[in-house]
Amino acid sequence: MSIAQNTDTTAKLRCISCGATPDSAGQDFRCTACGDLLEFFFPGWTLDQLDGAKPRHHTDPKPSHHTDPAALKALWLQRRTSRDALDQSGVWRFRELLPHIPNLDENAITLREGNTPLYYLPRCSRATGVENLHAKHQGMNPTASFKDTGMTFAASSAHQGKFRWVACASTGNTSASMAAYAARGNMHSLVLIPDGKISWGKLSQSLDYGALTCQLRTDFDGCVHILNDLVRQKPVYLLNSVNPYRIEGQKTAAIELMEQLDWEPPDHIIVPGGNLGNSSAIGKALVEMRELKLISRLPKLSIIQAQGANPFYRCVHEFGGKKLEPMTADTLATAIRIGNPASWKKALRVLQATGGEVEQVSEVEIAAAKAEIGSDGIGCEPASAVTLAGLKKLRRSGFVKAGESVVLILTGHLLKDPDFTIKFHRGDLFAGTTGAAEAAPAKYLQRAPIVLDANLGAVIAALDAAERNS
Ligand code: F0G
Repeated sequence: MSIAQNTDTTAKLRCISCGATPDSAGQDFRCTACGDLLEFFFPGWTLDQLDGAKPRHHTDPKPSHHTDPAALKALWLQRRTSRDALDQSGVWRFRELLPHIPNLDENAITLREGNTPLYYLPRCSRATGVENLHAKHQGMNPTASFKDTGMTFAASSAHQGKFRWVACASTGNTSASMAAYAARGNMHSLVLIPDGKISWGKLSQSLDYGALTCQLRTDFDGCVHILNDLVRQKPVYLLNSVNPYRIEGQKTAAIELMEQLDWEPPDHIIVPGGNLGNSSAIGKALVEMRELKLISRLPKLSIIQAQGANPFYRCVHEFGGKKLEPMTADTLATAIRIGNPASWKKALRVLQATGGEVEQVSEVEIAAAKAEIGSDGIGCEPASAVTLAGLKKLRRSGFVKAGESVVLILTGHLLKDPDFTIKFHRGDLFAGTTGAAEAAPAKYLQRAPIVLDANLGAVIAALDAAERNS
């Protein structure tokens, strides 16, 4: 079975390596000629047409969307007041910049995703010396991670293709999101997750949403391997981020961010890097927005990995971007415990297009950064906190300057992984490990719960002690 491409739109599929433009994608969403990933591109978006000029050749496809930047901005703003479910979604609101899915009334599956807040971070700002520091919290999506923005779009494409089953391999967030959208769209979902290596918070979500959940005795990369073989044999729709519909939906985080900043791009955007779909999507959106003159310049998009799961960092810094050497990944930030990222070539391209950097951070740096973000009243999961830890390093190296503006993309909610948080505050996270000494200076961030007798005097004594130490 192949997945037909929509023909009544300007969006087309293209292989990122050999440039082939197939009419449809196979079930593994890879190029049948060379095996690399596919992406959507929009041949109708030429600057000539956007300037109101005539198509350069009479054969040029006419854009089916309005692509006048001012008109688009006004339309998207106006939709904020609409009662229509799709207009209320922070993904579908921007549908002019996405491939067309026919018959949206029937096919679109939405949980009103997107519409996530942009927060100023005063304490983190002081700690990093970056005055203009904000976080866009993608953990404030319906299933509490950024995955929902891509999932609403890709699950809708599965629905339109009349698939009975959808499937993904996951470190937890993709599976939670997929299971929810499959349930809303009346589809069955199959989840492959590494046994014992994801947080309970995420696993519990896919159970409630009714997924067939298989904990495989392997890591994330092993789950991906099995899933790729499975989709070649069974009529199952693949919902990992190799699916280009996922990337298109995830673009909207960047579009929404620019709208929140009144279309004035920050100097830097910093994202965590795991399978590298998210960085690819945000970078793609930035490049497209500049092509469409929605923004006038590109922010530098930097990608941060955990030191124990750093194949992309090594790709860039050891191999000059020429190859990616898969590794066995290990980090407490389980969401990004990925050793063989599928979208590394796409991520490399956006890194080069925007002039961003790749950094790696230690386990202790991640844990401390998470608590520091917490001290601004914002909770996030460990994988999200690599962004602040990475920013500190980029400040020290001089890549980010004090006067520059920075937006961190927080990808998941604090409650996804409460075990990590509790162990950190109790001082147990690094006890007996090689990280113990490095973690000592971060002690001041720890707020362990205090067990007391049920007596007013004891509580008042605790309050007074806290006041003296504050
Ligand atoms: N942050 C969180 C919270 C994630 O769940 C993930 C990926 C990432 C960052 C990295 O994003 O893979 O696009 O580079 N989680 C996937 C999952 C792989 O299965 O939930 P990426």
